[in-house]
Amino acid sequence: MARKSSGTIGILTAGGDCPGLNAVIRGVAKAAMHHGIKVIGVHDGFRGLVENRYLPIDNPLVSGILAQGGTFLGSSRDKPHKMPMGGKIMDMTEVAVNNYRKLNLDCLVCLGGNGTQKNALRLHEKGGINVLTLPKTIDNDVAETDITFGFDSAMSIATEAIDRLHTTATSHHRIIVCEIMGHSAGWLCLGAGIAGGADVILIPEVPYDLEIVARSLLRRQRSGKRFSIIAAAEGIVTVDQAKARAKAEAKGLKSDRELEIAHTIRSKTEGEIHLVQEPVASRLARHLQQLTGVEARVTSLGHVQRGGPPTAFDRLLCTRLGTKAGELLAQHHYNVMVGIKGNKCVPIPLAKAASAKRTVPPDHPWIRTARLVETSLGDVED
Ligand code: F6P
Repeated sequence: MARKSSGTIGILTAGGDCPGLNAVIRGVAKAAMHHGIKVIGVHDGFRGLVENRYLPIDNPLVSGILAQGGTFLGSSRDKPHKMPMGGKIMDMTEVAVNNYRKLNLDCLVCLGGNGTQKNALRLHEKGGINVLTLPKTIDNDVAETDITFGFDSAMSIATEAIDRLHTTATSHHRIIVCEIMGHSAGWLCLGAGIAGGADVILIPEVPYDLEIVARSLLRRQRSGKRFSIIAAAEGIVTVDQAKARAKAEAKGLKSDRELEIAHTIRSKTEGEIHLVQEPVASRLARHLQQLTGVEARVTSLGHVQRGGPPTAFDRLLCTRLGTKAGELLAQHHYNVMVGIKGNKCVPIPLAKAASAKRTVPPDHPWIRTARLVETSLGDVED
């Protein structure tokens, strides 16, 4: 027999934070309360659910937070089924589910990226609880949605950084490598690189050849341009590294750690173990300085990209997604991710959304756009 509705939902924010989380919490909570649903906020992602840490959310609590960065609920990268507890990694799924039941929730709303989609799906499948998710990440790599919230804000910050690097690189006639986040997806780097007019854009989906990049910089110099900006995603790989990774994957090595070890072993045999440990942008800058004779500098944007207030675009997106979630909760429409398709907010089966990461397809229009404005992607001669 179906459980009687309690008219209460829980909400949590999990994974790396991003601008727009507070705006979504506000959207979900206000729309839910509009439909007479009570809202409970869970602290620090899935850890708060396991540790039973929560607070009731009322209207005044979500007033005035639309433009605030971060998440007032706090976040963590903890997974219920693999949670560090007192020095051990424990499966806390049962505890999480029991706490959900004790709180008498109708549904748990989870705001997060790829990992969160998977963790929420797991709680639904293994624990039988209702979940509803929203796609959050500056990486823009959640499947089945055209865009994730937080991406536009991070892209604006990275674009402004590239603008600023342009003026100083011009003054000193330097190469500046700007390292941009995105994990294993290149959306943020590609978007900001195009918007900021970077001369070279390197993304994980397009393995690069160092010599090709160097020749492109030298050609710029010969044509009278005495500086270059390189937007490099944190997950970039050279053509050789991509081949090694494909080989390792063919051997069944899957996790990043296994791939890293495989790559380390390969690099060791090539006598360049020191290269593996170095941050990608500084390695790149060092090599390009050697190959071109032009002085190079590095800027790693790091968590600056995830801080501060959301853009107007993200505030609108977050409010639309959040209020749509509130409407779905009122209809008891659970176990979906609320995504954007075309210009519509739509419920997407969670199993589909959690199935894969959305990386930049090699034939994506943004890649052609970059090439048409003479931006090198480091894979073919300009
Ligand atoms: O997923 C968002 C993200 O900012 C990635 O772009 C980046 O690789 C990662 O999180 C950084 O994580 P942390 O904040 O845990 O260092």
